[in-house]
Amino acid sequence: MIGKPLAGKVALITGSSRGIGRAIALRMAELGADVAVNFVRQRQKAEEVAEQIQSLGQRAVVIKANVADEESLRRLFRETVEGLGRLDIFVANAAIAPFARTIDYKPKHFEFAMRANPLSFLIGAQEAFRIFTQQSGLTLEELDRIVEAGEKPPHIGGRIIAISSTGPWHYIPGYVGVATAKAAIITLARYLAYELGRFGTTVNVVSGGPIETENMKFFPEEIRRQWIKNTPMGRLGQPTDLAGVVAFLATPDADWINGENIIVDGGLGLI
Ligand SMILES: NC(=O)c1ccc[n+]([C@@H]2O[C@H](COP(=O)([O-])OP(=O)(O)OC[C@H]3O[C@@H](n4cnc5c(N)ncnc54)[C@H](OP(=O)(O)O)[C@@H]3O)[C@@H](O)[C@H]2O)c1
Repeated sequence: MIGKPLAGKVALITGSSRGIGRAIALRMAELGADVAVNFVRQRQKAEEVAEQIQSLGQRAVVIKANVADEESLRRLFRETVEGLGRLDIFVANAAIAPFARTIDYKPKHFEFAMRANPLSFLIGAQEAFRIFTQQSGLTLEELDRIVEAGEKPPHIGGRIIAISSTGPWHYIPGYVGVATAKAAIITLARYLAYELGRFGTTVNVVSGGPIETENMKFFPEEIRRQWIKNTPMGRLGQPTDLAGVVAFLATPDADWINGENIIVDGGLGLI
């Protein structure tokens, strides 16, 4: 992609202190966006990402917030707008769930997986759309009134992108919490895309196959070897493989993509 198609835009990427979120943050900054970098434990890593964004000539704020905690998640949006003045792009990237066999999966762990993943995506998308609406000079109540009166929907704009995985469609030992949560995220995105599309707000999902991040330690070596063998391109994905696609969805070239789930797996799903 040439130039800075995200100039003047502000992006919030949850879990952007490392891994895929970090790569998305840096790619968006390369394309001209200012970025809110979110972490929950590793402030130092988040600060380093912010420094890299600043060295690309963009603004960055670092915000500690736990997406599994509703109050903390809502504060993340408030502090993004306080720090960077607006919000145009929300990427729900951070994911967390305990690993266990399905038959042993504890209800409290399952509830946590749903709270930390699909529920945090839902709340985040609602917060993002409320901010997008306010930036258009309207409140959600005024928007409801316009829709109920059958008037032409105003252009609100903004991009909402969730990171899912190809995990829901394959058996991966121990992965049931994340897999179920990721399947729910894809459905949620389709519902949001339908409801928000009329306002020019797009909602899409990017689903990665196995990507080489610290997360890989949760999977046995044998499974990793199998993934590489079964991937036509002969390797695991890198965070940048996903980041470019996510950043593209935030650009004007992707205006007409809405409600999609783009699979980025090097062809692993072909067999
Ligand atoms: N790796 C893969 O193979 C793969 C494949 C497909 C999809 N994905 C998806 O891609 C996304 C990123 O995965 P990843 O492998 O890069 O690493 P990850 O372990 O999911 O996330 C790392 C990032 O999330 C932050 N984080 C963790 N829990 C958080 C919480 N409760 N609240 C806020 N931030 C939190 C971490 O912050 P700290 O640094 O402070 O801990 C860090 O910035 C996830 O949605 C994952 O499911 C991954």
